[in-house]
Amino acid sequence: MKILLTGGLGYIGSHTAVELINSGYDVVIVDDLSNSKIEVLDAINEITGVKPKFYQIDVCDKQELVKVFEENSNIFAVIHFAGFKAVGESVKQPLKYYRNNMDSTFTLLEVMEKFNVNNFIFSSSATVYAVSEVMPIDESFPLGASNPYGRTKLFNENVLIDYQKANPDFNVILLRYFNPIGAHESGLLGEDPNGIPNNLMPYICKVAVGELDHLNIFGNDYKTKDGTGVRDYIHVVDLAVGHVKALDKLVNNKNYGLGIFNLGTGIGYSVLDIVNTFNKVNSNLVKYEFAERRPGDIDKMYASPKKAEEELGFKATRNLEDMCKSSYEYQKNHKEKK
Ligand code: UFG
Repeated sequence: MKILLTGGLGYIGSHTAVELINSGYDVVIVDDLSNSKIEVLDAINEITGVKPKFYQIDVCDKQELVKVFEENSNIFAVIHFAGFKAVGESVKQPLKYYRNNMDSTFTLLEVMEKFNVNNFIFSSSATVYAVSEVMPIDESFPLGASNPYGRTKLFNENVLIDYQKANPDFNVILLRYFNPIGAHESGLLGEDPNGIPNNLMPYICKVAVGELDHLNIFGNDYKTKDGTGVRDYIHVVDLAVGHVKALDKLVNNKNYGLGIFNLGTGIGYSVLDIVNTFNKVNSNLVKYEFAERRPGDIDKMYASPKKAEEELGFKATRNLEDMCKSSYEYQKNHKEKK
């Protein structure tokens, strides 16, 4: 069964490609390489023994996208990962984010309609939830993103919900990711952002391999157990498995309609939990200093993973030690290769 992955060479897309291939799906990837590398295709091949068909195109380019659908008949579903994802950049360049992240979905939907492809899985984010004092967050919680990046996720959700309402034969699953970290156990796939990382685990990894001096922990006076921010970190391979489960659901339910699911573990870890576990399992010493709070950050956020467990049969199985070990392994491996 053929599945089209947009952004399939990115961090989450590439791990999902591997899990899909291992589950017997036939994967076709489109990616414009704006935040990924072509070598990832070889890594997928090395891990699975299968090199997916690949097109270097921008999903907003309708003519090119049409060609992909013409050359690949019978695509069963599209999993839409492609998108800009840097929160800070989105605040400075909102139009770039709105144009790209919205247009790609519009273009995909139009082309899918033309080719009668009726199944869609969307990379959404926990960032679509409004700030809440109550935890864990379940899928019925109020929505309200706080920056342009988050709003592109929220607007896309709305577009897809409206489109599904108008087209009852169309099925869509929105997956709201919490904080994906970790890397493939082979050490061949992982996250290595360009420049100085914004997110916690990539930053810790760069400190661990000596590329950065120390971690700045943003805030130690939050209302949490140790004063540092609490998040729901999920291993990227578990997250990838979540996509396979969502897809299986669509395969087995022809008239599925709309589904919305959190993908998280339900466990909240603080920044200090992450640093301490990282240092323990990697026999490393990532130095840190406490710094000012980062604007826009909240004290804590973790998921209720119940709905995905009950309806998709999905449960994350990899623990924080696995996440810290695999992240570091990839970073070391990757550094040696550079
Ligand atoms: N943090 C630090 N130092 C750093 C980086 C992060 O202390 O150098 C802290 C943050 O303050 C926060 C925690 O580590 O408490 C996690 O921060 P990340 O930047 O790794 O992740 P966020 O929770 O801020 O955001 C992530 C993604 C968003 C997504 C959101 C969903 O970056 O794209 O999760 O909740 F929308």
